[in-house]
Amino acid sequence: MKNIVIRDATTADLPAINDIYNAEVATGTSTWDGEPWTLEEREAWLARHGDDTTPVIVAEVNGVVRGFAYLSWYRNKSGFRFTREDSIYIDPSCRGKGLGMPLLAALIQRAQAARLHVLVAVITADNEASIRLHQRLGFEESGRLRECGYKFGHWLDVVEMSKILE
Ligand SMILES: CC(C)(COP(=O)(O)OP(=O)(O)OC[C@H]1O[C@@H](n2cnc3c(N)ncnc32)[C@H](O)[C@@H]1OP(=O)(O)O)[C@@H](O)C(=O)NCCC(=O)NCCS
Repeated sequence: MKNIVIRDATTADLPAINDIYNAEVATGTSTWDGEPWTLEEREAWLARHGDDTTPVIVAEVNGVVRGFAYLSWYRNKSGFRFTREDSIYIDPSCRGKGLGMPLLAALIQRAQAARLHVLVAVITADNEASIRLHQRLGFEESGRLRECGYKFGHWLDVVEMSKILE
C-alpha cells in the first residue's frame, strides 16, 4: 500500500475514527462494545488521551483516514504506570494490505520514546489477523482467558500478548 501518512489524531479525525470503530462494533469480535459510540463519547475519549504515554495516531491513505491506533492504561494503578495497552483498527476496505503493520510499528516507537516498559494487547482468540500482526512486531502470548467474553451469541476466549520494550 502506497501514500501512507501516519500522524497524531485531531478532533477533525473523530468522525472517521468512529466510522471505522462502529463498523467493528456492529460486525466484529475485536471489540466488546455492543453499542456504537457517539461523536460526543469519542471527543471525551480523545480528551482523555494524547499525552506522550497515551498517543492516538491515525493512518491516512491518499489523504483519507483508514486506520487508527492508540495506547491506554492497562490498569489504572500506580504500579502499572510503565505499561500500556495498545488498540488498532483498520477500515474494512483496507485490511490485509499492509496498513496495520506500519501503524502499529509507529505506535510502538511512540511507546519507546515515552520510556514505557511493556505493551499489552488483549485480543479475541479468533482474531488471527491481530495475533499475527502482534507476533510480527515482537509480541508473545502471555496468557489465555477461556470463555471470558460473550458476543454474537458465543463465548469467546481472550489471548493476552505482551512485548517488553527496549
Ligand atoms: C487486525 C488488523 C489491525 C490488522 O491490520 P491489517 O492492515 O489488516 O494487517 P496487515 O495487512 O498489516 O498484516 C499484518 C500481518 O497479519 C497478517 N494478516 C492480515 N490479515 C490476516 C488474516 N485475516 N488472517 C491471518 N493473518 C492475517 C498479514 O499476512 C501480516 O503478516 P505477514 O507479514 O506475516 O504476512 C486489522 O485487520 C483490523 O483492523 N481488524 C479489525 C479490528 C481488530 O481486530 N483490531 C485489533 C484488536 S486486538
